[in-house]
Amino acid sequence: MTFIRMAQSLSFVMVVALLAFSPLCSSQASGSAYLYPQFYDRSCPKAVEIVKSVVAKAVAREARMAASLLRLHFHDCFVKGCDASILLDTTGTMISEKNSIPNRNSARGFEVIDEIKSALEKECPHTVSCADIMALAARDSTVLTGGPSWDVPLGRRDSRDASLSGSNSNIPAPNNTFQTILTKFKLKKLNIVDMVALSGSHTIGNARCTTFRQRLYNQSGNGQPDFSLVHSYAAQLRTRCPKSGGDQNLFFLDFVSPTKFDNSYFKNLLANKGLLSSDQILTTQSAVSLELVKKYAANCELFFEQFAKSMLKMGNISPLTGSRGVIRKNCRKINT
Ligand code: HEM
Ligand SMILES: *[C@@H]1O[C@H](CO)[C@@H](O)[C@H](O)[C@H]1NC(C)=O
Ligand SMILES: *[C@@H]1O[C@H](CO)[C@@H](O)[C@H](O)[C@H]1NC(C)=O
Repeated sequence: MTFIRMAQSLSFVMVVALLAFSPLCSSQASGSAYLYPQFYDRSCPKAVEIVKSVVAKAVAREARMAASLLRLHFHDCFVKGCDASILLDTTGTMISEKNSIPNRNSARGFEVIDEIKSALEKECPHTVSCADIMALAARDSTVLTGGPSWDVPLGRRDSRDASLSGSNSNIPAPNNTFQTILTKFKLKKLNIVDMVALSGSHTIGNARCTTFRQRLYNQSGNGQPDFSLVHSYAAQLRTRCPKSGGDQNLFFLDFVSPTKFDNSYFKNLLANKGLLSSDQILTTQSAVSLELVKKYAANCELFFEQFAKSMLKMGNISPLTGSRGVIRKNCRKINT
């Protein structure tokens, strides 16, 4: 009896999965077949809506939160896959990824993820993974700030551990070379098109003085600023990002429209007003990426379309599915 029930529900799930993917399969990576947007339709029908409403409240409180949530998903997916490893706090046997160089004093939005998780635990206990919450929150944040939408494939499960070393080595640094950054994307099966489109996330959010100071004073060790940064813009940045001190002072990644998801990031790059070295090198180090920047600066639609596609690819990095991984009750801790 129970076996038949299980078999029935299993085949139902498979049919749903097939139906969900037949129109999309041709354009998607094969790994995506494990995840599908309707994953919680029966087990937690309100899940997607609940995530959206909590994210909307958080972004209404503070516009920057959209950027912070989008970045969390990226920093999660590049380390052991999209498995919510970034959310785990330090324990006696594990150091949190929150302490890594890219995340320390930088990654934020953890309280919003907690708020979403506790709302979901009330609605349908022990059902929705923290990794899926981050994937949905990244999409919702993009939409709320004016960017494109996409259906988020779901069914990721959560890791039992974190990787501080993975967080330090896999996530690109703002002063990495073009080749190093591209290599870090390729290691995640993302290509140069994904790299340029996803860098377009820097159309929203902030960066600290410490992440681009080198460009203002001593870019290549000769005591000169980065020549690819427009003089007047550099001078303006120096007023609040001194040679020493002010490390945590915040600057808009896109000074034109810092809370609007649009293509002005790419227009800024063409005007040599990219904030981070990793932004500006998209126009100075590769003809291929320069062409992509020009294309997205000229056509917002094309940027939005590619951004959605690349977010789907990034969200599909090594998910834990089936019986691998767990559903954490508290996103910060391993279930006891
Ligand atoms: C291409 C390589 C990338 C590099 C080197 C890079 C580097 C950085 C740095 C240094 C910051 C500022 C952090 C701080 O000062 O605290 C930042 C912010 C941000 N990054 Fe990236 N990033 C990259 C790609 C991405 C990708 C792929 C995404 C998302 C898909 C993303 C989303 C964001 C967002 C939204 C912010 C603003 C966060 C906030 O205001 O809280 N970045 N990034
Ligand atoms: C990049 O920045 C880090 C942190 O500020 C610094 O330690 C490192 O020397 C820089 N690397 C290069 C190649 O400039
Ligand atoms: C610039 O950096 C180089 C190498 O990192 C260092 O030797 C030099 O003293 C710096 N110059 C200035 C003016 O800070």
